[in-house]
Amino acid sequence: MRKEKSKESKLYKIILSRRTIRLFRKIKVSRSIVRNIIDSARLAPSSANLQFIEYLVVDKPSLNSDVFSCVKFGGYVFPRRVPDKKRAPSFYIIILINKNKSKKPDLRDVGAAAQNILLSLACFGLGGCWIANINRIRLRKLLKIPRHLIIDSVIACGPAAEHPILEERADKIRYWLDNNNRLHVPKRPLKEILHYNNFP
Ligand SMILES: Cc1cc2nc3c(=O)[nH]c(=O)nc-3n(C[C@H](O)[C@H](O)[C@H](O)COP(=O)(O)O)c2cc1C
Repeated sequence: MRKEKSKESKLYKIILSRRTIRLFRKIKVSRSIVRNIIDSARLAPSSANLQFIEYLVVDKPSLNSDVFSCVKFGGYVFPRRVPDKKRAPSFYIIILINKNKSKKPDLRDVGAAAQNILLSLACFGLGGCWIANINRIRLRKLLKIPRHLIIDSVIACGPAAEHPILEERADKIRYWLDNNNRLHVPKRPLKEILHYNNFP
């Protein structure tokens, strides 16, 4: 076993403390950081190592507004967690599936890549919101995405302007906003989801 203060323990803390961020601070994120984040997705595990995922980064202000108009933030508390202009994401990562690289893409690849992105964002002091609720027809048109690239999902990214609170809850799955506009995120308790060996 490694010592408590090892790099692994820092990463573990980041994994536990990462929460979805939907409100951002208006600070530009450098392309070198963005490149590092995408590089972490590139190196994620891939079924049969087919590596069918590609990434479109949108960081131009006029196009950011276009992407914003295609995604839905915070379904359970809609529209109270839709960021206004001052709290909008700095950039977006659009996760694309290249149909020419796999006939039957295993979506577990996307899960692994997206989680690497979310954790890398956290490592660089940034936050992200993975979004599947997208107007894909509109987004394809606005960004001229070619037909052989399937739009899987979008990750809205930037420096966090909110600090959601984690709650252990067996009775609730919906995230909610309190009177101070803090987001609470329920998670099922470990004892309910962890099983050892055989079932009774
Ligand atoms: C596949 C997937 C799709 C999601 N789609 C959306 C979405 O369309 N809009 C949104 O605001 N959040 C979306 N989320 C974020 C979830 O709401 C969030 O992960 C969940 O509430 C748990 O919060 P946590 O990420 O802080 O643990 C999505 C998450 C996943 C994994």
